Amino acid sequence: MSKKVILAYSGGLDTSVIVRWLAEKGYEVITYTADVGQGEELEEIPQKAKASGAVEAIVEDLREEFAREYCLPTLRALALYEGKYPLTASLSRPLIAKKLVEYAQKFGADFVAHGSTGKGNDQVRFELSVWALNPDLEVLAPVREWEFRSREEEVEYALRFNIPVKATKEKPYSIDKNLWGISIECGPLEDPWTEPPEDAFEWTVSPEKAPEEAEYVEISFKEGTPVAINGKEYPKLYELILDLNKIAGRHGVGRIDMVENRLVGIKSREVYEAPAATLLYEAYRDLLSLTLDRFTFHYFLSHIPYEYAKLVYEGLWFSPLREALDGFTERIARFVDGTVRLKLYKGRAWVVGRKSERSLYVEDLATYSEKDAFDHKAGAQFTKVFGLPLKILGRIRRR
Ligand code: ARG
Repeated sequence: MSKKVILAYSGGLDTSVIVRWLAEKGYEVITYTADVGQGEELEEIPQKAKASGAVEAIVEDLREEFAREYCLPTLRALALYEGKYPLTASLSRPLIAKKLVEYAQKFGADFVAHGSTGKGNDQVRFELSVWALNPDLEVLAPVREWEFRSREEEVEYALRFNIPVKATKEKPYSIDKNLWGISIECGPLEDPWTEPPEDAFEWTVSPEKAPEEAEYVEISFKEGTPVAINGKEYPKLYELILDLNKIAGRHGVGRIDMVENRLVGIKSREVYEAPAATLLYEAYRDLLSLTLDRFTFHYFLSHIPYEYAKLVYEGLWFSPLREALDGFTERIARFVDGTVRLKLYKGRAWVVGRKSERSLYVEDLATYSEKDAFDHKAGAQFTKVFGLPLKILGRIRRR
């Protein structure tokens, strides 16, 4: 058995120390770094990985694949974990895991490795994804078993082996970033009563500092895919998302603060910034309400968002359940054509207008003016029949 391992590598302290730690244990380490829109310079990554002891370093731009194959289906499901979290970090794990599996095959490696801890969700997402794609691979998670008990001990180890560590004073937060959003944990946020300090946020201004004037933004969809902002078309979905992050971010839109239930049984206080996702969820939901008939819309709302969010959060991306739910949401996405106008002001974004060629809204039926074409007499008959069960119940209760 060769001791080749493909390591998911961010270039931060943990994964840099992992490279050396695995090398010391006799592994040949190949690092894998994905650009999922975290907005960091990845040019120095290969050099850094090799200085830490890697034999090979791969860097890949996955922004469009991430946007189209992971963010978009989740948007189409309107999936929010526990009703709030747009699953930013949860979505990047299966994609990275898939790439680790591909490169393990390419390099003939029997191991893959990640830098997740033993009390988080990410270990579960990595490992379930890897096993679903190649159950013969062994997954190593050094952080779960190594000897270091603090950041200081890791830094000491890094210095001993000449591993490049940034001298800059780091923020006290644990941050995970991609184009769909940022998740921020630790430091002062560990007290759920403490308001997140301004330095926790990166993409959103505080609502107090947002412009005094509201901004309008129009997002257009074609068959369930966002394709234009204010009439300007975007062939690349990830570029549309990056621009929406800027637009919403400058109005302080997209901050989320919650206590969430992790898979391992603990509750944790989480802060997120997801400006683009916030706008896209509002817009998509609105177009669904305009273009879907009542039966289908109600079925969708009561069955899809909760189940989809749960499966993504719990690491079941590569499951038949996800594929089947995608089948449903893709079918429904075909109705989602049109444009939504949102108003952005001081930390909030809300829909103020919508239009679609596929709109099921009929003004002559909805109006209260003299143009009204609704048969009011039918209303009386309908109410009589619809209310019959309660009428019978009422009668029997009165006896
Ligand atoms: N709680 C979120 C999740 O489970 C975010 C985790 C992000 N990881 C991190 N190292 N900050 O999806």
